[in-house]
Amino acid sequence: MRLLSIETSCDETAASIVESSADQSYAKLLSHSLATSLHLHAQTGGIIPESAARAQIQYIIPVIYEALEKAGISWDMQNPPAIDGIAITYGPGLIGSLLVGVETAKTLSYVWNRPLIPVNHLFGHIYANWIQTADDFTPPMLPAIVLVVSGGHTDLLLMKSHTDITWLGGTRDDAAGECFDKCARLLGYNYPGGPRISELAAKGDPKAFPFSRPMIGSHDFEFSFSGLKTAFINTTRQHFPILRTSSEKIGWEQIALEKHLDQPQKQTLYDLCASLQQAIIDVLVKKTVAAAQHYNASSIVISGGVAANDLLKEIFTKKTIENGLQFFAPPKYLCTDNAAMIGAAGFFRNQTTTWQQLSANPQLYFD
Ligand code: KG4
Ligand code: ZN
Repeated sequence: MRLLSIETSCDETAASIVESSADQSYAKLLSHSLATSLHLHAQTGGIIPESAARAQIQYIIPVIYEALEKAGISWDMQNPPAIDGIAITYGPGLIGSLLVGVETAKTLSYVWNRPLIPVNHLFGHIYANWIQTADDFTPPMLPAIVLVVSGGHTDLLLMKSHTDITWLGGTRDDAAGECFDKCARLLGYNYPGGPRISELAAKGDPKAFPFSRPMIGSHDFEFSFSGLKTAFINTTRQHFPILRTSSEKIGWEQIALEKHLDQPQKQTLYDLCASLQQAIIDVLVKKTVAAAQHYNASSIVISGGVAANDLLKEIFTKKTIENGLQFFAPPKYLCTDNAAMIGAAGFFRNQTTTWQQLSANPQLYFD
């Protein structure tokens, strides 16, 4: 089975061609194509949904065309291409962005007479772990505990099979990625802030600032990151008075705080970032491993943009070995938004629909 998959839930426009493996246990990636409007949002200090949707319109056809071409499939409106269906993200996300992908997929479905497979973007992130990335690739063993950790989500799930996935808990306020992004913004960096914080953190001491680990001992599978964000912002402002009056200005003008500091001050900044990153990671790892022990899982699977964090993967690798668990994380290009994961989810949560029935749903959650 071979699918064209399309993802347009936010500021990335992506298309892929994926094929199921011979034993149907994972997806093979034949091609992927991606365009982003991130550069537009850097100028405005945040994503303006209208601009993101306009960029989606501009990119969608070239991106689909490129994905087909890279897989050696010709685009011909008269003759259907060699695909069996079209997997499409229908939510959650920005409605304007979602509509561009959904309406394009519906048009192609009608013209090419191919079924649509609606995919929830959040389940899509999980299935980034079911895409072949090496010749000796094996998919995660089930039951698994899944941590979806992105800019908008921090959720734990129990996955017993592809049709039995239960939500265990999530964040009560900010997502882990949002915490990285908002703290980075105080320091003068635009979205996405996680990679910038982790770059600065690599030069710092993670024990320098004893930030609290929110809800680490709460005996449930809930998270909270907004208090940690506030603690970081307050402590950073205490050390760098310039931020007390002009943090917004620095952020919007893209003048990174680091450039204003002498060497000892820079070290304090690196220590603050390392301590913040360590606090976030400690909570994520502790709660995920606790869930795996509680449900007697065979593996831990992580996904979403924050899963690209190298230290997070390093600590998960260590803790899972200690606990006799297998650990799976996608390569970086499959952690952040992409269409390959939407195609992989399309195989395993394969419910086809017709172009007359499909509509975008920006409010979707894990259901
Ligand atoms: O999955 P994603 O691309 O978009 C959403 O669906 O939210 O995730 C984006 C998030 C952002 O918050 C970004 O700061 C974070 O992932 N992120 C990271 C890293 N790379 C991306 N956070 C920490 N460390 C990283 N290396
Ligand atoms: Zn995402």
